[in-house]
Amino acid sequence: MKSKATVLTSCEQYGRSVNPQWVRLLDVLQMNVRYSACQGVELISDDGRRILDFLSGYCVHNAGHNHPDLIQAVKDELERRGPGMLQSHVPELAGELAAALCERAGGRLTKAFFSSSGSEGVEAAIKFARAHTGRDGLLAAEKAFHGLTSGSLSLMSDPFWSDGFGPMLPGVEFVTFLDLSALEKKLRTRRFAAFLVEPIQSEGGIKVPDAESMRQTQALCRRYGTLFVLDEVQTGLYRTGPFLASHHFGIEPDMVVLAKALSGGLVPVSALLMADSIYDSVYNSLKRSIVHTSTFSENSLSMRVGLATLDVLERENLGPRAAEAGEVLRARLREALAPYEMVKDVRGAGQLSGIEFTSPRKLSLRLPFEAFMAIHPGMFGQVVVMRMFRDHNILVQVCGNNFMVLKAAPPLVATDEHLDAFVHAITSVVDLMHNSSGFWTEALGLARRAGGI
Ligand SMILES: Cc1ncc(COP(=O)(O)O)c(C=O)c1O
Repeated sequence: MKSKATVLTSCEQYGRSVNPQWVRLLDVLQMNVRYSACQGVELISDDGRRILDFLSGYCVHNAGHNHPDLIQAVKDELERRGPGMLQSHVPELAGELAAALCERAGGRLTKAFFSSSGSEGVEAAIKFARAHTGRDGLLAAEKAFHGLTSGSLSLMSDPFWSDGFGPMLPGVEFVTFLDLSALEKKLRTRRFAAFLVEPIQSEGGIKVPDAESMRQTQALCRRYGTLFVLDEVQTGLYRTGPFLASHHFGIEPDMVVLAKALSGGLVPVSALLMADSIYDSVYNSLKRSIVHTSTFSENSLSMRVGLATLDVLERENLGPRAAEAGEVLRARLREALAPYEMVKDVRGAGQLSGIEFTSPRKLSLRLPFEAFMAIHPGMFGQVVVMRMFRDHNILVQVCGNNFMVLKAAPPLVATDEHLDAFVHAITSVVDLMHNSSGFWTEALGLARRAGGI
């Protein structure tokens, strides 16, 4: 007799076979929604909710979800039935994409190495910097996010990410972001192959430097023979207005890592752009022509989508649009949130904005706030995120290395109506946190559902 098979939903199957803790977290935050269609900024759930994406998969969906031209590019490339990944020929599309990226990046960036994720781009930067300089030290900024493979992870100071996975790469040291005297002190030892830094710290709390500090950072790196490497995985591809965020500052890095938005949200791809001299230090003989590579590097589908993504971003003028709309968004947020003591700052560049919260002075707010903090430092931010999602249908998150900053990074195609909806929603949540005990008692329910974090 046949036993009655248990039919699992796809969510249960995922929980059983992939990551049950992730399913649990989404359940606790009441964000475990099935999506049936995603277009531009809008996510439609199975039960008919229209949710606005102000996270963009952490800056993947610059061109918007499922852009028809990008879908067409994927289809065309598959239909071509060419050598998708022969590993034994010259992949022409990689040449085209490399030239297009280097032309837009400018400065000394003339060669590209392709891989499939931001972390792999950072790994390549580490290896290439060591090969070029003959030094093994690496310098990074505190609170940075560079990815979770072992090398990239070694460049992240927050032990949350590295605990239990050690030992990390030897020779890595950290300086506070934009602390130029600390930086010079380290660089003067001439032990460091590279200073790897985000031009705008994203997960660190949307920290936007002034141009002069970035220019001095570059000058210091040059003076002491350390390569100046920018991680533009979140900030690149017009997210902050120009093609690269470094273009705001008039700097010419030795290497730049791009990923996320280059894929159009459809196929994995990343690129490490670098000066010829660095490339030559690595691939310096026939024997070493493939000394650093990867199976999926330069695959035709990724290259085709990368080219199509550039085309869409530029044809639709999304860089200037991001710059303008971001300014409008922050001006509206500053005005709407000015009356609230827990809002410390609104800052950003282009469509990468941060709202920084601070602990309240008023006793009636301070007591519940401190209780939240005692449960978990991320609890306060997650209640904001949960309310934005559940009560206002807006998907947003706090910064991964700075829980007091809510990040707003919608697709660059966001319209005025989308921005207005965001301002209205966050103002309403902030008002609730200042004027209703319901906001704070919500956390207790959250903690109860979590049953220990
Ligand atoms: C600034 C930055 N660098 C690197 C990475 C790593 O990219 P990936 O997740 O594609 O490995 C991320 C990922 O979020 C990132 O935000």
